Amino acid sequence: MRKNIVAGNWKMNNDLPQTEALISDLKKQTKTSNAEVMIAPAFTNLWQAFETTRHDDIEVIAQNMHFATNGAYTGEVSADMLKSIGIQTVILGHSERRAYFNEDDAILAKKVDQALSKDLRVIFCFGEELADRKAANHEAVVASQIQNALFHLDASAFKNIVLAYEPVWAIGTGETASPEQAQDMHKFIRKTLNDKYGNQVADHMTILYGGSVKPTNAKEIFSKPDVDGGLIGGAALKAEDFYAIVNAF
Ligand code: PGA
Repeated sequence: MRKNIVAGNWKMNNDLPQTEALISDLKKQTKTSNAEVMIAPAFTNLWQAFETTRHDDIEVIAQNMHFATNGAYTGEVSADMLKSIGIQTVILGHSERRAYFNEDDAILAKKVDQALSKDLRVIFCFGEELADRKAANHEAVVASQIQNALFHLDASAFKNIVLAYEPVWAIGTGETASPEQAQDMHKFIRKTLNDKYGNQVADHMTILYGGSVKPTNAKEIFSKPDVDGGLIGGAALKAEDFYAIVNAF
């Protein structure tokens, strides 16, 4: 079912006291929209964040996980570990994971399979680089990222997937895709899903936009018909800014 979601990706920011302080600030904010609110703190702070938001309208989610069930993968975190502390949603395929940790489509397909097999909901990220857009290749790149990591799945699997279109050139750069660019791509993504799985999957898919979403541009981006919410980086680190975006619906 299509939902409005605003998810804050904290990335490698906030130690434990800072996590507690930001959550305490978030709890002071008032939500006036129907958007689901999610925050993704670092692994070390997930348990504490989960515990302190247990009775609030905030879902704590993970930024990443490994594709294996368990074993000799030093430094990695498994789906079962996330599940065991109450986490129900994981971000996979963020462009920083792809760029700095060599996560390619094949690895991401395995991560998606593992997450879904453990009943985790996946926020699957993808998006083109600036060179792709300049070469007018952005749609082909996005289509291949989706196809390679997700199109082996049955239609029924998509009820546990949220898509996040994040053009790499707009992440952390202050440069946002225009609302029209976001809408055009989201419409194209829905068409790509429709061509493969039909409108039952395409029309119900929640598609987030990410890349320099701020209180000043959120309303216009979220007003586009195929944009269902946002994945927020920098602006998620300030409670007032984050809730201004949550309330932009
Ligand atoms: P940004 O990051 O909002 O800081 O551009 C978005 C993201 O990486 O998800």
